[in-house]
Amino acid sequence: MRIKYTISIVFFVTLVIIEKENNIISRVSDKLSLKQATQTPLQHSGLSHILPKHNGSLTSLSKMDSAFMLMKRRLENYSEHQGAVRSGRKHILLLATTRTGSSFVGEFFNQQGDNMFYLFEPLWHVEKMLTLETGGTNATVAAKAYRDVLQQLFLCDFSLLESFIEPLPVDHITTALFRRESSSSLCEESVCSPTIKGVFEPYHCRTRRCGPLNLTMASESCLQKEHRAIKSVRVRQLETLRPLAEDPRLDVKFIQLVRDPRAVLASRMVAFEAKYKNWKQWAMDGDVPLDDDEVRKAERELRQHKVVC
Ligand SMILES: *[C@@H]1O[C@H](CO)[C@@H](O)[C@H](O)[C@H]1NC(C)=O
Ligand SMILES: *[C@@H]1O[C@H](CO)[C@@H](O)[C@H](O)[C@H]1NC(C)=O
Ligand SMILES: *[C@@H]1O[C@H](CO)[C@@H](O)[C@H](O)[C@H]1NC(C)=O
Ligand SMILES: *[C@@H]1O[C@H](CO)[C@@H](O)[C@H](O)[C@H]1NC(C)=O
Repeated sequence: MRIKYTISIVFFVTLVIIEKENNIISRVSDKLSLKQATQTPLQHSGLSHILPKHNGSLTSLSKMDSAFMLMKRRLENYSEHQGAVRSGRKHILLLATTRTGSSFVGEFFNQQGDNMFYLFEPLWHVEKMLTLETGGTNATVAAKAYRDVLQQLFLCDFSLLESFIEPLPVDHITTALFRRESSSSLCEESVCSPTIKGVFEPYHCRTRRCGPLNLTMASESCLQKEHRAIKSVRVRQLETLRPLAEDPRLDVKFIQLVRDPRAVLASRMVAFEAKYKNWKQWAMDGDVPLDDDEVRKAERELRQHKVVC
């Protein structure tokens, strides 16, 4: 890969298994193997190399335990200790696709406490504003916006992100920051302004009663922290982030999260039910969808993962 020497990638393969999904995983995996046997496109796509031919039960729990222990130790290596020794601020960009366990892994950073400024899916606003009538985004335009917003956020500058928030913040105050409560950094004492009666906040702090988010306060708090971490499921092409890797003001580590595609699909079938009517049918009665958006999406994601590897 072209940028492999500029970006050091911490590459984790995690298998996060949610109990209720297990059933669907095995059904989906049975059908996937069946489809591979009967169709050529999948065989060329890489799915067939990656999908092991075993039951849906996936890896044993003990294997997962050790994988998570290793990951925990690696993450601990990023924290205060090492940063202080090297006197460098290390930042982390956690990249994933939906339903790969990125919120779960993000919690490792969210719960680091005083030294870590964590943001959960800030690019949600950017994607929302750039969504076209067709329902998608112009990939070129979106990639640029994602990159620039991320770059600013790693420097604790919220101004570009602000321009994507709807309604537009007034005096850097907003009630509408997506899932504010999922970033504990945005609900800390120092970022908690007094509540205002009668103001509706869809995303409000759960840990303490705070008023609308003052992004100037958030920025000040961010600057106090040694490390910053951002999680996003929206970046599609790693190479578009090259300027972040090369920015001398930043020392960003990229973590690309990868999960077994069968489990991802099974989870998406539960989480985004309406989009997967075809697949439910498939799992129930064996009607294989021949030309399916979600299969294409899974294939594309797998190709990206191969590039990362
Ligand atoms: C798969 O499941 C079947 C029955 O559920 C069992 O007999 C078989 O040993 C399992 N295979 C593996 C590799 O676990
Ligand atoms: C943590 O960092 C130390 C020193 O840099 C290194 O020796 C060790 O292998 C690291 N541990 C993990 C799990 O990456
Ligand atoms: C995306 O936007 C760019 C710049 O505005 C434009 O040149 C390009 O044609 C657009 N691409 C598509 C697929 O619409
Ligand atoms: C937001 O926070 C900044 C910095 O603490 C402060 O100067 C400003 O007055 C606050 N804005 C409002 C509307 O309270």
